[in-house]
Amino acid sequence: MPSIAVLPGDGIGKEVINEGLKILNFMEEKYSLNFKFEEFDVGAERYLKYGELIPDSLLKRLETFDAIYLGAVGDPRVPAGVLEHGILLKLRFYFDQYVNLRPIKLLNDRFSPLKKKGINEINFTVIRENTEGLYAGIGGILKKDTQDEVAIQEMISTRKGVERIIRYAFEYAKNLNGKLTLCDKSNVLTYSHGLWLRVFEELKKEYPDVQTDHYYVDAITMKMVRNPEIFDVIVTCNMFGDIITDLGAELQGGMGLAASGNINPNSVSMFEPVHGSAPDIAGKGIANPIAAILAAAMMLEYFGRKDLAEKVEGAIKTSIDENLLSQDMGGNLSTSEVGDEIVKILKRG
Ligand code: NAD
Ligand code: IPM
Ligand code: MN
Repeated sequence: MPSIAVLPGDGIGKEVINEGLKILNFMEEKYSLNFKFEEFDVGAERYLKYGELIPDSLLKRLETFDAIYLGAVGDPRVPAGVLEHGILLKLRFYFDQYVNLRPIKLLNDRFSPLKKKGINEINFTVIRENTEGLYAGIGGILKKDTQDEVAIQEMISTRKGVERIIRYAFEYAKNLNGKLTLCDKSNVLTYSHGLWLRVFEELKKEYPDVQTDHYYVDAITMKMVRNPEIFDVIVTCNMFGDIITDLGAELQGGMGLAASGNINPNSVSMFEPVHGSAPDIAGKGIANPIAAILAAAMMLEYFGRKDLAEKVEGAIKTSIDENLLSQDMGGNLSTSEVGDEIVKILKRG
């Protein structure tokens, strides 16, 4: 009986998680899955009311779950970084979810932003290191608000951290029978990304059957747009992974469609859309719930039910084929109508 801690969070996080739960509830009933859900209130409201982000007691509670299903955090009333660090990064770091798996898969040719690139060309996965790099949070500010101010934020690459993510990526590519591409900036970050490149070269020898490739991050953005078909799996550091997956989200049809899994193969993993709380559209009931639903599908796969994940993805694909779309995709359905239509399609098939 998989137990799932549900953290809807802020803004459209709440709206899209509702739809993800709709789909999970339907799948649970239809396939006798027997989930145990428990919802936890974290985010801006709680912070503004009680000054609380994620108390240690809640982290301990979350340890007892099989997975976390998260909406998004971020609120214009709270200074930038407070909720992002205090909740999202806190969870990723606490559970040492060192893999951030971000599939970039176009589901319908009509939604490709690229001329002549369709579902056969836009289909790859970014594996983002999720616990170190520029996100490690080492640094500080000296002489704040003076002309002599110094701000330092260190980029951390440890051999252990780099090796485990590159190894995960090699295994992932091997299972897919695909190519692994390293994305770094080792021509400038000669120490930090020099380590990435050396480890990549070392591990290559252990995976002689995996074809490999290497691009600097600036060039990879060009290649992702010009020749997305050359990629199967891209492995990269925390910051670059963040940036190139928003570009990837647009390639697959928009931010409303991109899902991710924060994975620690030996601990509690967390599934969430790539997008944020979207304050510009929050509360209007127009957010696209597909990213959150695909994140739920990733969670089903994580629980060993790839078959059911494929059914959910198939239903989403059908909903897109049948033009049952939210506004960001050119339709006029509300968030909950999109969820309802996907449930109807699942019922049909
Ligand atoms: P965002 O992803 O929230 O929004 C970017 C743009 O995409 C906006 O125009 C938004 O309306 C649109 N968009 C995003 N998701 C959509 C959806 N499902 N359907 C339709 N349109 C959608 O990024 P942002 O505006 O840079 O950040 C807003 C807040 O969210 C900030 O506080 C940021 O720190 C936070 N954030 C949180 C997460 C997370 O919790 N995982 C991720 C990214 C940003
Ligand atoms: C993401 C987000 C987060 C990140 C922020 C909100 C901390 O942009 O999940 O892509 O940078 O990882
Ligand atoms: Mn991001």
